[in-house]
Amino acid sequence: GHSWRDAMSRLWIMVLVLLWIPVMAIAQLPGNAQCPVNCSCFFSQWFVRCSNASLSSLPPGIPNATVELDLQHNQFSTLSAGFFPELAEISIIYLGSSGIHQVEPGAFQGEVPHDQRLLKHRTFDIGLTWLGVCVSLSLSGGFSSLKQLSVLDLSNNLLLELSDQALHGLPRLRRLYLSANRITNVSSKALPGSLRALSLDENQLTSVPAAIRTSPMLSTLQLSGNPIRKLTSLSFGRRLRSLRQLFLDGLALEQITNLAFTRLRWLELLSLRNNSLESLPPLSSLKSLSTLYLTGNKWRCDCNLIWLRTWQKKVLRKERSPVECSSPEVLQGQLLCKDQHSSSLPISLLHPLSHSL
Ligand SMILES: *[C@@H]1O[C@H](CO)[C@@H](O)[C@H](O)[C@H]1NC(C)=O
Ligand SMILES: *[C@@H]1O[C@H](CO)[C@@H](O)[C@H](O)[C@H]1NC(C)=O
Ligand SMILES: *[C@@H]1O[C@H](CO)[C@@H](O)[C@H](O)[C@H]1NC(C)=O
Ligand SMILES: *[C@@H]1O[C@H](CO)[C@@H](O)[C@H](O)[C@H]1NC(C)=O
Ligand SMILES: *[C@@H]1O[C@H](CO)[C@@H](O)[C@H](O)[C@H]1NC(C)=O
Repeated sequence: GHSWRDAMSRLWIMVLVLLWIPVMAIAQLPGNAQCPVNCSCFFSQWFVRCSNASLSSLPPGIPNATVELDLQHNQFSTLSAGFFPELAEISIIYLGSSGIHQVEPGAFQGEVPHDQRLLKHRTFDIGLTWLGVCVSLSLSGGFSSLKQLSVLDLSNNLLLELSDQALHGLPRLRRLYLSANRITNVSSKALPGSLRALSLDENQLTSVPAAIRTSPMLSTLQLSGNPIRKLTSLSFGRRLRSLRQLFLDGLALEQITNLAFTRLRWLELLSLRNNSLESLPPLSSLKSLSTLYLTGNKWRCDCNLIWLRTWQKKVLRKERSPVECSSPEVLQGQLLCKDQHSSSLPISLLHPLSHSL
């Protein structure tokens, strides 16, 4: 038994050594000659980290093979046209907390090749000749150098708006984080149609941006912490058929009209915490809804809210967010749905999906 155990442990050491040799070989250490100054590169330069480096422009020599680029905590101020070179493999870019107050059109479209730049200037000199029209069309259409980019984080910057062309050239963008900026308007064509998750929380939006309607595959939308007071049938439009999670916390919401959410057929989670709501129209068209967060409002517990009481009794107790009545006075401080009632309900009614609303 003893020698067998020895043999096994020697085998394990060999396996570990064999596993580590290739890992050490491809994990390039900081200070590598091919890595940009003040950045560190890891794993064959797939991961390039240039965070907290006091950078005001993109360091030259970002490796072509970069998959993930971390540029957080720098001072870029403006992302000008052609800010990023062609990075055919890149999938994730972190640009949070970098003092960015403007994203110019074409920032993610790559550098316009030098000869084309000359051609463009020349055609401007000539004026709108046929050649000029053709050239400017070919320049504005389809040029894309970050075509694999799927995650872009621009949180905690100073952006005021998002223009039509700012995010052009990102055909695969799935997740866009714009939390904690100062955005007041998002231009109608600013968002790529490929988006699945969009965070616009902690901005200065006064209405739901119409631009989200151009992203029909959107599944998660985070809009908390914007000064939006009212939601109507126009707020979300008709096309957000894939939306599953909607966060609307701390909006100062006072009113939600009857048809505001009706088109969001597949919505599973709706969060309306910390608003100024007194009532909520029935959500009977949302057949998939299983989680509804409602705390921190001014609920008026009258006939208009009876549907909610019925609905709350159906969902699992642990998924139920307490709804405290603010008015009428006799019910002030009481819960809309008390726990004693639900425990006497049949098990089938306690399951959120076993009965539709
Ligand atoms: C690298 O960092 C040092 C120290 O922060 C700075 O002085 C230098 O300018 C940086 N180099 C580049 C190329 O950014
Ligand atoms: C970068 O700087 C920020 C703010 O100064 C700090 O919170 C963060 O931990 C730093 N990150 C690294 C990797 O040093
Ligand atoms: C990186 O890509 C650029 C543009 O396609 C090319 O000019 C350059 O030679 C490439 N560099 C390497 C190291 O492959
Ligand atoms: C945002 O709104 C301001 C003021 O209404 C306007 O001047 C600006 O052009 C708008 N920007 C976009 C991108 O729509
Ligand atoms: C709601 O407000 C309370 C009290 O101000 C706070 O503790 C809580 O984090 C807020 N919740 C959300 C989801 O905003």
